[in-house]
Amino acid sequence: MTEQIFIPKAYKNTIEKGSYTWSSPSNIALVKYWGKKEHQIPENPSISFTLNECKTITKLSFSKKEDNTGFSFEVFLDNEKKDDFKPKIETFFKRIESYLPFLKTYHFKIETSNTFPHSSGIASSASGMSALALCLMSIEKALNPDITNEDFIQKTSFLARLGSGSACRSLEGDLVVWGKHDEIDRSSDLFGVKYPFEVHQNFKNYNDTILLVDKGEKQVSSTVGHNLMHNHPFAKERFKQAHSNLSTLINVFKTGDLKAFIEIVESEALTLHAMMMTSMPHFILMKPNTLEIINKIWNFRHKTGSNVCFTLDAGANVHVLYPENETEIVLEFIKNELVAFCQKGEYINDKIGFGAKLL
Ligand code: DP6
Repeated sequence: MTEQIFIPKAYKNTIEKGSYTWSSPSNIALVKYWGKKEHQIPENPSISFTLNECKTITKLSFSKKEDNTGFSFEVFLDNEKKDDFKPKIETFFKRIESYLPFLKTYHFKIETSNTFPHSSGIASSASGMSALALCLMSIEKALNPDITNEDFIQKTSFLARLGSGSACRSLEGDLVVWGKHDEIDRSSDLFGVKYPFEVHQNFKNYNDTILLVDKGEKQVSSTVGHNLMHNHPFAKERFKQAHSNLSTLINVFKTGDLKAFIEIVESEALTLHAMMMTSMPHFILMKPNTLEIINKIWNFRHKTGSNVCFTLDAGANVHVLYPENETEIVLEFIKNELVAFCQKGEYINDKIGFGAKLL
């Protein structure tokens, strides 16, 4: 399959104006996407839990304009005009223009808000770009109503990827794979697909409590971060490791082996940070409190036999992952021992979710 299949045939309908609102979640990677080639093609396959509470809600209003010369849009975050969001959206529009030929024929008003605080250090690019891609695809569906639900999701994921790689994993629940993997038939570098195999009851309603260790702006932009993998001395091994970790996870999901799950998930998080620490230039994105939390989690697990574990994004915040049947005991542990290491004691209780919704 190539990108060509996403170039639409002539549209059947014409529409003057309208609006669509979508809510789209964030996701947390278990096997990390870190390193990409040109055109947002990942260097390795990744898999993520779709989240339930951390979402972006985007309303896209559109009206036909006189000329078709350039992109015309305005962006609002929480009702406030946000011109500093425009370059990223302009780049996104340029990348997807050939797949959505109507883009230059409308003026767009993009009104967006997040259910999580903007300055929480939680990346909003996955939920934000997927919500915008969904709104744009709703326009395409109105212009061409024959598009099937399956094709709608696939093309939306394809477009979202061109906005932000991880965004292509945010449309459906509850586990999504992005990137070609030998054992996952329909997996693709071009879009995310719902994880197609058996998932043990142990992983249903899995919890993710996000501890906000550092709510500041990202120290390393994702583009800079991914580029660090070019000519990285350990890149080849790392990309191979992601393939084998995903292979192992297939069996883990089937059997419900939580101990094996923890091993892989924590190793993936630490490897992501190890890659950053061993690249040129190098970065340490963990903070002292990140390490305090990791050690507390290890001690707690050792003492109690709990199946709580952690994962990290490209930042200092810690995602604490634990099965549904440990909700009470782990929440108690978080309140008693971990909240002290969060900035202003802030954290967000989230869990596996079911994907994006048209509102
Ligand atoms: C560490 O999707 O934000 O969260 O494609 O440049 O927008 P761009 O990168 P982005 O990278 C996410 C990296 C990660 C791991 C992951 O989500 O798999």
